[in-house]
Amino acid sequence: MTVRTRTVRLDDAEGIRSIYNVEVVDSTVTMDMVARPLHEQQQWIEHHQGAHGAIVAVEDDPATRTERILGFASISPYRSRPGYSTTVENSVYVHRAHQNRGIGRVLLDEVLALAADSGFHSCMARILAGHEASIRLHASRGFDLVGVEREVARKFNRWIDITVMQRIF
Ligand SMILES: CC(C)(COP(=O)(O)OP(=O)(O)OC[C@H]1O[C@@H](n2cnc3c(N)ncnc32)[C@H](O)[C@@H]1OP(=O)(O)O)[C@@H](O)C(=O)NCCC(=O)NCCS
Repeated sequence: MTVRTRTVRLDDAEGIRSIYNVEVVDSTVTMDMVARPLHEQQQWIEHHQGAHGAIVAVEDDPATRTERILGFASISPYRSRPGYSTTVENSVYVHRAHQNRGIGRVLLDEVLALAADSGFHSCMARILAGHEASIRLHASRGFDLVGVEREVARKFNRWIDITVMQRIF
């Protein structure tokens, strides 16, 4: 089936949070601790419009004649102080059953194009140290290693190191 991407819509909230919440409760790729409720996911979508936007990867489900959400990617502000406004941070998530199909690469390419077209100068990625899939994905899209922040987070009773990568447009 053909996978395509499009701008996020409010009614994508359930599909997005079902992908995200698996990682919240089961992994250390995100430092969120509590599954995101529907209304928070809807607020997230409302805040991810325009230049700080989000996209979804979808395929058609012929049985129900609806779209199935396979993944999403977003661009967020890097820091709130105005001097940092030319830099953004990206995020990309693919449904576990659909990983390793090239969807992450398509999503990242699209969301980086959005950031570059919006005039941002640089994009940061903050990745769980040792998370080879994400580190390799970002490296393949032109991100360079900045360094590793050691033990800056804690989840599931252990310290978490974060690998910081950056792409300058
Ligand atoms: C990281 C993630 C987005 C990758 O998405 P994906 O759709 O599985 O990746 P793709 O199939 O597009 O692969 C793109 C590239 O990523 C790398 N990659 C993907 N999976 C990999 C794996 N298991 N091991 C090593 N490298 C991997 C490869 O470089 C690959 O390029 P190649 O096919 O030329 O070798 C996906 O694993 C995911 O959503 N993980 C859970 C959420 C997460 O960790 N998000 C990132 C938070 S920083």
